[in-house]
Amino acid sequence: MTDDPVDSQASIDAVGDRTADELDPRVHEYTAGEEQEGIPFIGAGPGDPGLLTVRGKELVDEADLVVHAGSLVSSALLVEHCADAELVNSVGKDLEELIPLMRDAHESGRTVVRLHSGDPAVYGAALEQIDALESEGVPAYIVPGVTSSFAAAATLRTQLTLNGVANHVAFTRPRGKTLDAEDDHVAEFVEMGDVTTCIYLGTHAVSDTMDRLLDRDGIDPETPVAVVYHASWDDEDVITGSIADIGEKVESVGYRASAMVLIGEAATGAGYERSFLYGDWANGGATDAANGEPDDAADAAETTETEADD
Ligand SMILES: C[S@@+](CC[C@H](N)C(=O)[O-])C[C@H]1O[C@@H](n2cnc3c(N)ncnc32)[C@H](O)[C@@H]1O
Repeated sequence: MTDDPVDSQASIDAVGDRTADELDPRVHEYTAGEEQEGIPFIGAGPGDPGLLTVRGKELVDEADLVVHAGSLVSSALLVEHCADAELVNSVGKDLEELIPLMRDAHESGRTVVRLHSGDPAVYGAALEQIDALESEGVPAYIVPGVTSSFAAAATLRTQLTLNGVANHVAFTRPRGKTLDAEDDHVAEFVEMGDVTTCIYLGTHAVSDTMDRLLDRDGIDPETPVAVVYHASWDDEDVITGSIADIGEKVESVGYRASAMVLIGEAATGAGYERSFLYGDWANGGATDAANGEPDDAADAAETTETEADD
């Protein structure tokens, strides 16, 4: 254990020039989510304890110290899986406080886990903690989880990609304290038409976001929008509408955080076409070459990953 202050910025700067050829050797040693030495950064999933992965549960169950992402990690999950551990809420703690806390606990032989909401790879700010820990000599790694847009899609009984409706998915956030207005691309994604736009960190700004979409030529005000508050929690709530009216509906219930905003036709689960996978390809027939998909079943069958929808 050491009382040395950590220089977390230096650890971030140190990886600044890394190229794809210079990745950590562990990239080639471990498969995703495999148990490794050090502190696991675990995706807790959207909230329901049943949506924590099996690997995540095994690791959390063993933990002596769980550093968690505050109100975004459901108390049901903490009660069910972390009852015997010391719990520390990371909200309001900077890297200079969090890193020594996890480092010292790890070095004193305690089993530490870091619990992020959803998946740590999506708006999780996990990497800066991992790099800072590793520069302190404490290894760390990521265990994936179910991101909240996937839970919202499940609640809505739809798919984020839907044949004939949405070919792409955008994970995005609106402008705000940490994103400059010129880096807000919500309108560009929505304008593309065949994109399901999943807005994280935007519950407080639904009206503002929709107003800006309404001001933009070419975006249909009737484009469907679904807002899923606390997806998978006991108090989950779903508000549906369009770009024209969803802002007012969300304001009337007063949600300011913890909701996923899905924009696009896929939010309704309607209007889709039968997929290639369970159509021509399954039947061994020719397909529409104009779609850029394999034009005979043999080509498709030879590939381990087809371009067919799964
Ligand atoms: C800091 S981001 C973390 C996202 C998280 N890493 C994930 O993969 O879902 C927090 C945002 O995720 C969304 N979010 C997290 N949990 C949610 C849930 N259970 N239901 C709906 N949205 C959720 C909200 O948009 C919230 O503002």
